[in-house]
Amino acid sequence: MITIGILGGTGDLGNALAIHLCKYYEKILIGSRLKERAARVIDDLISRSAMGEDATRKLKEHLVPATNQEVAALSDIVIAAFPYEGALEAVKGLSPSFREGQLFISAIAPVAKRGGHFVNPEESNPLSIAQRLKGFLPRSTKVATAFQTVPAKAIYDKSSVDADVFVSSEDFETYQSVQQIVQRVGGLRALYAGGLEMSKQLEGLTALLLNIGSKNHMKNPTFKITSLRPA
Ligand SMILES: NC(=O)c1ccc[n+]([C@@H]2O[C@H](COP(=O)([O-])OP(=O)(O)OC[C@H]3O[C@@H](n4cnc5c(N)ncnc54)[C@H](OP(=O)(O)O)[C@@H]3O)[C@@H](O)[C@H]2O)c1
Repeated sequence: MITIGILGGTGDLGNALAIHLCKYYEKILIGSRLKERAARVIDDLISRSAMGEDATRKLKEHLVPATNQEVAALSDIVIAAFPYEGALEAVKGLSPSFREGQLFISAIAPVAKRGGHFVNPEESNPLSIAQRLKGFLPRSTKVATAFQTVPAKAIYDKSSVDADVFVSSEDFETYQSVQQIVQRVGGLRALYAGGLEMSKQLEGLTALLLNIGSKNHMKNPTFKITSLRPA
């Protein structure tokens, strides 16, 4: 049985992913700094569920409250959904807990608002957040980035959303593992953006997307790539 754990899983993105992934994975750890808070969030998800009887049963049976330390220690696949501010510190603090051979997917998007615009406050750093997080993880961990441009609210209570998720990962095999997870969130299509060196570009897309959304009065903007000619 594969265990997925979400660090910072009590937030909007963690909740939205958990709602979809619990249909496919029997154990999803919802991580929090406070396990009681994770338990409350799960209760809330169950009580507000409008997903039908079978899906609500899966929420009850498959979502498990956890500390972030438990997520790090017990998961096969870790999704990091910490807010950008504090994410590096949080993962560094968990460093001794991570186990060997995990898949670590960073959904973290560095965004700040300056002068009325969204910016990437890490623009001048040569390394992405994901590349820096890798330094706190065991050498055997495979690191990827995904979900930076998918608004949690768009996937929260919808069975399907037509959007692309750009993935960068250490190798193509890792991408394929991430692709399987992404495509289990109804309607999302994974697209390979290249190795982890591409993660800085991907992390920077969130600020661009939020600017486009706000200047054009678009709610929950996201990306969908089209190709004019078949490849
Ligand atoms: N929301 C979206 O639509 C969306 C879409 C794509 C990507 N993202 C990215 O995904 C990440 C999560 O987004 P979100 O909106 O779900 O975040 P969030 O709700 O702001 O935070 C998620 C959880 O992180 C924990 N947390 C807050 N501050 C922390 C700190 N300093 N150290 C450790 N844990 C902390 C909190 O859980 P506890 O209090 O229970 O510990 C919180 O519920 C962000 O990096 C964001 O850029 C978000």
